[in-house]
Amino acid sequence: EAQNERESLLIVLGFARDFFVKNLQTEEGKSIGLSYFKERGFTPAIIEKFDLGYALEGWDNLLKAAKSAGFQEEILLKAGLILQKEGDASRVYDRFRNRVIFAIHNISGKPLGFGARILTKDKSQPKYINSPETPVYHKSDVLYGMFQAKKAIREKDNCYLVEGYTDVVSLHLSGIENVVASSGTSLTEGQIKLIKRFTDQVTVLYDGDAAGIKASLRGIDLLLEGGLNVKAVVFPDGEDPDSYSRKVGSQSFQEYLENNSRDFIGFKIGLYKEEFTKNPIRKAEIIREVVQSIGKIPDPIIRSVYAKEASGLLGIEEDIIHAELNKILLKTQ
Ligand code: CTP
Ligand code: MN
Ligand code: MN
Ligand code: MN
Ligand code: MN
Repeated sequence: EAQNERESLLIVLGFARDFFVKNLQTEEGKSIGLSYFKERGFTPAIIEKFDLGYALEGWDNLLKAAKSAGFQEEILLKAGLILQKEGDASRVYDRFRNRVIFAIHNISGKPLGFGARILTKDKSQPKYINSPETPVYHKSDVLYGMFQAKKAIREKDNCYLVEGYTDVVSLHLSGIENVVASSGTSLTEGQIKLIKRFTDQVTVLYDGDAAGIKASLRGIDLLLEGGLNVKAVVFPDGEDPDSYSRKVGSQSFQEYLENNSRDFIGFKIGLYKEEFTKNPIRKAEIIREVVQSIGKIPDPIIRSVYAKEASGLLGIEEDIIHAELNKILLKTQ
């Protein structure tokens, strides 16, 4: 029974994917959706590769099409494609309307849900509307772009981790295919396990703003705890991988990644660059910050390699790092 339901959900989600993809070729879809994607530099090939689509204006386009195709309202509701009207559950309407659509796939390429971006700068509406959790879409186990990235992640033995749908698509346009997005939420254990099926090495490319740096720090510790090797790149303030790659072009972008990838210790020290040399109290805090992250690493040999590196970079005796590490490790046991 549960298995049947899962299959029905995947079928209706596939129908919705096809519907959104086809909508992009209608008159409305071309003049609104396709021109939006074109403006962002998205090519027809990339649009096809990512199942990008368009949700028409109006309250019930998908609902009507799905019903004519024989789908019941119940399964559309369960799939998160339609919503019940507040105060009148007998009235239902499309969740995604007048937005461009990013299909969110499982690792076999089947759509589990959708992210839908607004087309205007209207700040009273959320920029993205996403599918809810459903019996097939467990957000904590899914990374956007993994289906399109998995082969390249294995080959490169590295996974770039970005925040947004558009960052994933833009990196592909820049020739970088080993990239997935956490979709703006904080990374989960399930997502880390998913990455570990393909590589042990992650490079975090979060947005160059305060929120992005905060999320990087949290993500780095989680990845270290998961036993992964972690690097990170900081982008200029206000830039994300999508905007920055379009600004500088794919050649310079790739060079930027190569020249600015730091391991987590270099990344953390870089954040405090100035204070680090000037203020001894801040320096002590930074040492504790770095040691805190080293303490997350499960493998004692790798831990001691990083302790040595930290000692060199921070200019303090290795014994002090180890003493501090032991304190942390005792606390967490
Ligand atoms: N996000 C979301 N809901 C929002 C805002 C963001 O789900 N209201 C998620 C989306 O997955 C989005 C990611 O968080 O891709 C990163 O958010 P943000 O940086 O604000 O958007 P971008 O991906 O950069 O989108 P764009 O370039 O179109 O502004
Ligand atoms: Mn479940
Ligand atoms: Mn952001
Ligand atoms: Mn962004
Ligand atoms: Mn962006």
